[in-house]
Amino acid sequence: MKAKIDRTYEGSFHIVGGDFSRAGEASTELKSILLNVGIDEDTVRRVAIATFEAEMNIMIYATAGILRYTISPDEIRVVAEDMGPGIEDIELAMQEGYSTAPDWVREMGWGAGMGLPNMKKNSDVFRIESVVGEGTTVEMTIRLKDC
Ligand SMILES: Nc1ncnc2c1ncn2[C@@H]1O[C@H](COP(=O)(O)OP(=O)(O)O)[C@@H](O)[C@H]1O
Ligand SMILES: [Mg+2]
Repeated sequence: MKAKIDRTYEGSFHIVGGDFSRAGEASTELKSILLNVGIDEDTVRRVAIATFEAEMNIMIYATAGILRYTISPDEIRVVAEDMGPGIEDIELAMQEGYSTAPDWVREMGWGAGMGLPNMKKNSDVFRIESVVGEGTTVEMTIRLKDC
């Protein structure tokens, strides 16, 4: 038996680049939705970490983006799509500790270069696509555990 998810829930959040007053809003909201529908805490934690990192990357690097989620009986899917500069070398960006975050972002406590690696680590399926000058799309799937 999977977690008692009997239907599909979908929703989305708009994220505006540079609007740090709303940092973590989308991932916090998604976290409470997941807890409300009865997803186990370990899964919620993984989704929350991955979503927070995706949300912050849109805020830090992109102009704007949308974060869509689907909660279904078997899995949770989060797709973060942005309009922004894109990533030239995805393999390099995926490396632990690699960051182009400017100093003022680091002063706020972000920019450790662990966001993309942690998104991948916390997902069962992780995909990233990017077009330089257009934007980046990250797709993360977290399978629901048997309970
Ligand atoms: N949505 C994005 N748009 C453009 N560049 C991005 C995006 N996400 C990540 N990057 C690039 O990949 C690098 C690594 O990202 P990440 O692992 O989250 O670390 P950090 O955000 O701490 O720098 C970033 O410094 C940036 O150069
Ligand atoms: Mg990051």
